[in-house]
Amino acid sequence: MKIDDVKKICVIGAGNMGHQISTLCALNGYQTTCTDIMEEILKKAETFVDQYLPGRVEKGKISEADAKRARENITFTSSLEDAVKDADYVIEAAIEVLDIKRKIFTDVSNMAPAHAILATNSSAIVSSRIADATHHPEKVINLHFFNPALVMKLVEVVQGPHVSEETTEISMELCKKLGKVPVHVKKEVNGFLLNRILFAIFNEAQWILDSGVASLEDIDNACVYGAGHPMGPFRLMDLVGIDLCYTMALEDFKKSGNRADLPYPSLVRHYEKGEYGQKAGKGWYDYGKK
Ligand SMILES: NC(=O)c1ccc[n+]([C@@H]2O[C@H](COP(=O)([O-])OP(=O)(O)OC[C@H]3O[C@@H](n4cnc5c(N)ncnc54)[C@H](O)[C@@H]3O)[C@@H](O)[C@H]2O)c1
Repeated sequence: MKIDDVKKICVIGAGNMGHQISTLCALNGYQTTCTDIMEEILKKAETFVDQYLPGRVEKGKISEADAKRARENITFTSSLEDAVKDADYVIEAAIEVLDIKRKIFTDVSNMAPAHAILATNSSAIVSSRIADATHHPEKVINLHFFNPALVMKLVEVVQGPHVSEETTEISMELCKKLGKVPVHVKKEVNGFLLNRILFAIFNEAQWILDSGVASLEDIDNACVYGAGHPMGPFRLMDLVGIDLCYTMALEDFKKSGNRADLPYPSLVRHYEKGEYGQKAGKGWYDYGKK
């Protein structure tokens, strides 16, 4: 298969990441199906598209014709089979639970065309833990978008030992077609590339806070106004989702056995109270409402 053979993309999961990845694919000319098991999440994703595209036209970012084409390119369905049956490239952005992802990949492998590449957007689960649940492990890869996927340019393309050069090459090319900057991560390591760096910053920020050295706001301000980061580590954790930060740290600990990788106690406290960040209305910061 070549990059030009990729015409239809299926995105599985219409949550935080999936609705934006689907919109991105549709905007860049791909016939896109977006699927989720939750009807109300699908409805919300569709409403987002119906508001986002006219908003881009209003701001002069895209033409009316582009918006119309993008809207025609995207469909929403709760039937996995309908969503993947013609797909050339599948991007799974479902909940971060290994068994659920493995089941999705087995089903997709049975339902999608044999040539289809199956990518996971997982932040912590490497594709070698999923690939053996499919008929073509060499076509299973990590394609790691960043949040918000319509805005953030970076995509990490993580090539596990089972992944073919062709799958990696097409995945890198696809990212470019989507207007992204792909980086080739040549080994499956915890946190891939950027999150390894970010988590080191998150841990340090939490240590400074818990040690009473500085306030949350001042730590964020230091990173923004001193290091030129677009937002501080606590705002970023709230955006990414405290549940996801917690799960990723726990996964790291399970793999390394190193207690330094455990989620920080103050992060655990937010997690246990369901204070998952912006999406929950409260995390490190209070957002007032959901
Ligand atoms: N949130 C982030 O900042 C971020 C960034 C990069 C990557 N990721 C990764 O993207 C994936 C999704 O994260 P998210 O933040 O969008 O989660 P989310 O909870 O917002 O969305 C997950 C969606 O998956 C759906 N789902 C669950 N089981 C399903 C199934 N069997 N079939 C179809 N859909 C199913 C849920 O209904 C939900 O809508 C995760 O693997 C995560 O690691 C997240």
